[in-house]
Amino acid sequence: MSKVLVVSGHRDLENSFANKKIIEFLKENLTEAKFEYLHEYLNKDFDIEEQQNKLAESDIIVLQFPIFWYAMPSIMQKWFEDVFVYGFAYWSAGHKLKWKKLVVSLTTGGSDETYTLWAEQWYPIEVFLFSIQRIAAKCWLEWSWFFHTWWINPFVEGKKLAELNEKIKSHSEKLLEKIKSL
Ligand SMILES: Cc1cc2nc3c(=O)[nH]c(=O)nc-3n(C[C@H](O)[C@H](O)[C@H](O)COP(=O)(O)O)c2cc1C
Repeated sequence: MSKVLVVSGHRDLENSFANKKIIEFLKENLTEAKFEYLHEYLNKDFDIEEQQNKLAESDIIVLQFPIFWYAMPSIMQKWFEDVFVYGFAYWSAGHKLKWKKLVVSLTTGGSDETYTLWAEQWYPIEVFLFSIQRIAAKCWLEWSWFFHTWWINPFVEGKKLAELNEKIKSHSEKLLEKIKSL
């Protein structure tokens, strides 16, 4: 079985509705996988070597995060800035992540129809993933898959809440299936 590293980018996972459930589902079903919770570094520096070793030891890297202000959460951006450095992630003797598989799994508050050209969010969701796609290409990571669940609105009740829970369950199951297939 491939070595899986799941990286959670939510800054407040405890109070999350969707990302928490997705991560818990993966934890239950991928008992061999390692989990990295970036919110633990909101008030402290990353141990760069430790983070790099975890990445270097994995075959599949799963990024799980909510979209915040049309981008990955800032703690995840910082993780990339601090850990994916020259000599490790890219260039000459670097490229330690070469051909590892990258899976991107995200949630948005906005609904699917708002993420279409010139609708409320102006652009399709792929546009907002451009920086991660470029990071993957520069580091020779294999862009394996991206999966997205729209319109996470935990304030709904009754039938709508049941539908939302079903949507998150379906997201989690498809994500697990994909990871296992790689
Ligand atoms: C600071 C902040 C910024 C957000 N920005 C966006 C955004 O740009 N686009 C969007 O669709 N949703 C946005 N949202 C909604 C979140 O993406 C949504 O609440 C999250 O995906 C739900 O996952 P969770 O239940 O795990 O928190 C934002 C939420 C917060 C707290």
